[in-house]
Amino acid sequence: MRGRIGHILTSVALVVFPALAESLMQHAGKIAPHRANPYAGNERAREAGQKLFDENCGSCHGEAGKGNGRAKTPPLTTRFVHDADPGALFWVLRNGSPSHSMPSFQHLPEAQRWQIITYLQSLGEEQK
Ligand code: HEC
Repeated sequence: MRGRIGHILTSVALVVFPALAESLMQHAGKIAPHRANPYAGNERAREAGQKLFDENCGSCHGEAGKGNGRAKTPPLTTRFVHDADPGALFWVLRNGSPSHSMPSFQHLPEAQRWQIITYLQSLGEEQK
């Protein structure tokens, strides 16, 4: 009986909170509209993005996005981030995590968010 109720609760949770069943990046990839990064391939934007990352993101995601050793905070040096549609990353920075474990960065000017995204998508490169 308990097992059955547990099963039902899990099914409900998967329907109500689809983000629990997949990574935030996968979730964003499904629902965020495509956006082009106005700074794609721009080295100065990448450098500005690195500084912004150190100030705003490094405390959780670790130096150069390598992770902080806690399973709940994903490293950002993955192919999921590298190959993501820029629109999906823009969505994550605008909305944060639905579980509120990551805050929204909507307060940063849009140009700064694109600089951060330029930096993020340069991270996985050496692993390819
Ligand atoms: C307070 C800690 C915290 C801060 C600060 C933070 N994040 Fe996060 N971030 C998280 C957590 C926790 C998750 C996982 C959330 C989830 O899966 O629901 C996450 C997930 C992500 C993801 C999705 C990764 C994936 O593979 O699913 C990206 C991209 C990301 N963060 C980028 C950033 C950027 C860029 C910044 C700075 C502008 C930032 N984060 C600041 C905690 C943080």
